[in-house]
Amino acid sequence: MSVLVTGASGLVGSRVLARLAAAGQKVVAAGRGPRRAVPAGIEYVEVDLLRPEGLRALIAASAPRAVIHCAAMTDVDACEADPVQAWTVNVRATEAAALGCRDTGARLVALSTDYVFDGERGPYSEDDPPNPRGVYARTKRAGEEAALLLAPDCAVARVAVVYSGRPGAKRTFASAAADQLLLGKQVRAFHDQVVSPTLADNAAEMTIGLWRSGQRGVWHCAGGSIVSRVDFARALARKLGADERLVVPIPMSAVKLAAPRPARCALDVGRIRRLLGPSVPLELDAALDRFVAERAA
Ligand SMILES: NC(=O)c1ccc[n+]([C@@H]2O[C@H](COP(=O)([O-])OP(=O)(O)OC[C@H]3O[C@@H](n4cnc5c(N)ncnc54)[C@H](OP(=O)(O)O)[C@@H]3O)[C@@H](O)[C@H]2O)c1
Repeated sequence: MSVLVTGASGLVGSRVLARLAAAGQKVVAAGRGPRRAVPAGIEYVEVDLLRPEGLRALIAASAPRAVIHCAAMTDVDACEADPVQAWTVNVRATEAAALGCRDTGARLVALSTDYVFDGERGPYSEDDPPNPRGVYARTKRAGEEAALLLAPDCAVARVAVVYSGRPGAKRTFASAAADQLLLGKQVRAFHDQVVSPTLADNAAEMTIGLWRSGQRGVWHCAGGSIVSRVDFARALARKLGADERLVVPIPMSAVKLAAPRPARCALDVGRIRRLLGPSVPLELDAALDRFVAERAA
């Protein structure tokens, strides 16, 4: 039986696919539009989550043993501008995935975010009550509820500040900063936002581990180090052999953004560490080694 992966071209979904395929698992990749970045040999199905019932029908037709639901509307400012689209993709499509799993008995692992917390007093454990602010955050939290309520066998994997060094991967804070630093250009970074940066490939590793474990409920699957954005950028500069003085600390208040950004939203990863092993949520230093290797590949 196959595993169905949504968000096949995304930062996390592409790594979940690659890891499952490398392990010999039969995979069905679901993505928006024509096949992109999905290796030949993996079955690819086009699904537009603006029509969520298509995902439920795909699950019924392919009868997978599991659905790993990585697709989401992840541009937080675009979500703020278009709550209807954000609700459709982040809530209704997750509901469709959950109902498809309910229909067929498939296990569901749904990806979610540190943004379910308000960022007033992180780091947060899985037992802390969410208090999402902004459209992206609220739709992701509602998606969590849909998944957990409707799919009888479900785990939610929360990740944070995802980055990838893979050529062709979506541009992120880390990849943009790396490009700038290597050109000797300044990088502005928030000194007052504290996060748990997560290498996409490590998020995929934890998500697959969570699926295989059979555990249910909410799990924090983020990187193992808690840092400010400035410390993140400086660690990246050191790893690249660039001048860390190129990192310019600024407060979050210096940038006007449409959607609210939580300030202290780091995730406690003790639970997933106990489940999968002490070195599985990568510490920042090890994650950046892997990031640099990905860029060189
Ligand atoms: N990126 C982060 O920093 C971050 C942080 C915390 C949590 N998360 C969560 O982690 C999960 C994985 O996100 P990611 O980091 O892999 O983000 P990503 O790279 O933006 O991937 C999201 C995927 O969803 C797909 N998608 C969006 N709208 C769609 C639609 N209407 N129909 C079909 N597919 C659609 C995208 O397709 P296209 O490739 O066509 O755009 C993309 O492949 C999501 O649940 C996200 O909320 C991400």
